[in-house]
Amino acid sequence: MKLVIAKDYDEMSKQAARLLADEVTRNPETVLGLATGGTPVGMYRELVELCRTEGIDFSRATSFNLDEYVGLPGHHPQSYRTYMEQNLFSHINLPADQTNIPRGDAADLAAECQRYEQAIAAAGGIDIQVLGIGNNGHIGFNEPGSGQETTTRVVQLTESTIQANARFFDTIDEVPTQAVSMGIRTILGAKKIVLLASGEAKAEAVRRMIEGEMTADVPASLLQQHPDVTVIVDEEAASRLS
Ligand code: F6R
Repeated sequence: MKLVIAKDYDEMSKQAARLLADEVTRNPETVLGLATGGTPVGMYRELVELCRTEGIDFSRATSFNLDEYVGLPGHHPQSYRTYMEQNLFSHINLPADQTNIPRGDAADLAAECQRYEQAIAAAGGIDIQVLGIGNNGHIGFNEPGSGQETTTRVVQLTESTIQANARFFDTIDEVPTQAVSMGIRTILGAKKIVLLASGEAKAEAVRRMIEGEMTADVPASLLQQHPDVTVIVDEEAASRLS
């Protein structure tokens, strides 16, 4: 794993945005793997700014998001589709039909998971996958116990993840308890991975991801076997690294 320690959140966001922008410039047909949550908001803001100032062209790119809550239709204010529209898609020239997010409201979720895996394969696989990390070491919504054989599937969110995500909802009871998430195998299939982490609360998860043993108990540690992972963290998130 390549480790980059940025001074703070803004610096982390700028470095990540630059990496994505360079990738799309180098290969206009890049297949992007995207994440949601609080961490990448600054990266998307910087990426939109780079598009404005440098005219980065996303017209031939494709995107696949990591996950979506089960039960929320795409237009729900807390859906990850809405998040992506607000933070990125409505600001850049990536055609809507080249953006992919699992359908959390699909009638047949098992078929939706299969369709999603096939769509990624049909696009030639993911070129660069952006990840955040949960306090418990999850990536995507692959909670502790998710092994490296897992592919896109319906997952049960842990109590700690539900609590962490309650900040985006009016009450904790509104937070969905399940999600559709790419699996560890899906994520490891990406050619390049960039993982972002910011703040003291992530420091222990970052330490276990990088310095701990490779175990499904800390799903992010399974990234140690991937040949091209860049971890961009701020100083607080790096504070427990030896
Ligand atoms: C988001 C995702 C999650 C988050 C993680 C960290 O698509 O898959 O793994 O990256 O829960 O979330 P934040 O950034 O809100 O701390």
